[in-house]
Amino acid sequence: MANIRPFRPQDEAQVTRLWQEIFPDDPPHNAPHLVIQQKRLWHPELFFVLEVETELVGTAMAGYDGHRGWLNSIAVKPSHRRCGFGEQLVRHAEIALQRIGCPKVNLQIRDTNTEVAAFYSKLGYRVENLISMGKLLSPGE
Ligand SMILES: CC(C)(COP(=O)(O)OP(=O)(O)OC[C@H]1O[C@@H](n2cnc3c(N)ncnc32)[C@H](O)[C@@H]1OP(=O)(O)O)[C@@H](O)C(=O)NCCC(=O)NCCS
Repeated sequence: MANIRPFRPQDEAQVTRLWQEIFPDDPPHNAPHLVIQQKRLWHPELFFVLEVETELVGTAMAGYDGHRGWLNSIAVKPSHRRCGFGEQLVRHAEIALQRIGCPKVNLQIRDTNTEVAAFYSKLGYRVENLISMGKLLSPGE
């Protein structure tokens, strides 16, 4: 049976292995230890893991900046996909955001990631006609 609970420091090694497997092309500023370090400072209660038995097979990170909520790092181990775990993680994060007053949630996916777009569409997310822009604040680090 699956269980979703908040991240604990002792999960770091398992989460790192999972993200390295699922997000192998992530840039250096998204290195798991950096992401985890920051998330433990900012809304750590919105960082969730999903366990099946004692194995950690999924993650979800949410954030709220007081205006919009965000979903990041929704990930399910390939061996455990299409069992509803991704949906459970997203719903869990959405409920946690709602509880703290967040009115809307956004997420970003690579434009080549059509499979993940299908997943989010099934969960009620719609493509919005916006241009997503970003800037590294510490280039080279
Ligand atoms: C996206 C992801 C989290 C989905 O996890 P999952 O546990 O397989 O998803 P679910 O089983 O809850 O799927 C719910 C529904 O979404 C849809 N869906 C899920 N994966 C899909 C895919 N690859 N292609 C098309 N539709 C998909 C299906 O309609 C599915 O329902 P069904 O199984 O009854 O058909 C998982 O594929 C993953 O970790 N992908 C890589 C990481 C990633 O790119 N994350 C998003 C960036 S933040």
